[in-house]
Amino acid sequence: MNERARIMIQKMQHHCGSGVEVDFYPYFFTASFDTLCEASFGVQVDSQLGRGRDWAQVIFRVTPLFMERLFAAWFYMGYIYEKTSAAKKMKKDCDDFREFSKNGSETTAQTNCFILLMLANHPDYQEKVFEEQYNIFGDTDRPITPDDLDKMEYLEQVIKETLRLFPVVPMFARHAEEDTKLTQNYVLPAGATAVIYPFFTHYDTELWPEPNKFNPDNFTAEKMANRHKYAFLPFSGGARGCIGNKFAMITMKTTLSIFIRQFRVSTTKKLEDIEVYMDLVLRCKGDWNMKLERRINQKS
Ligand code: HEM
Repeated sequence: MNERARIMIQKMQHHCGSGVEVDFYPYFFTASFDTLCEASFGVQVDSQLGRGRDWAQVIFRVTPLFMERLFAAWFYMGYIYEKTSAAKKMKKDCDDFREFSKNGSETTAQTNCFILLMLANHPDYQEKVFEEQYNIFGDTDRPITPDDLDKMEYLEQVIKETLRLFPVVPMFARHAEEDTKLTQNYVLPAGATAVIYPFFTHYDTELWPEPNKFNPDNFTAEKMANRHKYAFLPFSGGARGCIGNKFAMITMKTTLSIFIRQFRVSTTKKLEDIEVYMDLVLRCKGDWNMKLERRINQKS
């Protein structure tokens, strides 16, 4: 993860001081995708370096095919293999992989861009994030350890507050297999589908005093302890909640930590100009349009 974030920083360097607003998304997406492929499947895709452009085919050849066939000698003969259910399963594995890796990468990349857009709009919070990083790393450039990640409390508040305002998976659904009592008066009948929009709870004035305002202090330990655990549900919850939530937090913290220690970010795109739309994930209309400035000495 450290390495992927560093490659991304190197690739973005030349935009520093150009005064031109840049679309950050391609950089963050390829960094997330490469990290996910490497961490989850041990496959080095290097899309950041312009390789592995046809991701599905790369994975198709390298992982599931290799493993399935390796342990079954009779699968070595193609004309037999093609007729087997294993071949069909392998195809499905690849489709699932494509979804898994693409969605996992897009969610974290989109969220990182939303976070930087929030920080670009709030220079005071951006400096606070930097201060926290400086207190952990000083002027060193060493790799980030799990201990360091635990210390990034303010950055985590910023990530959560961004996910509150922009829940990148904007809806999910549940099918009720039996009558399910929700409250004293409401029963979800068997067979019904419940669609959940985190936006409703994330912008509820009873839970968040000023729901439209970006305020990382909404996520201090104290405030969180006093709120219902499903008041904030960007990763959903229960048995089918996001299995990648911890991984997502670790990659976002790692990437943003390295980014924010190198660059200061600004934008002409104001909060009120942000228009989102729902695709598979929540997206921002138009490019991300942010400017980069290099922090000369670390503490500047
Ligand atoms: C900011 C980042 C992310 C957010 C906000 C997010 C959010 C979600 C949400 C809301 C769901 C739907 C769960 C439901 O139906 O209740 C989900 C499912 C899932 N997520 Fe994530 N996700 C993120 C990153 C990731 C990453 C990095 C991975 C992979 C490492 C991942 C893997 C999955 C998988 C496999 C499911 C399906 C789980 C199932 O159906 O049992 N997600 N995610």
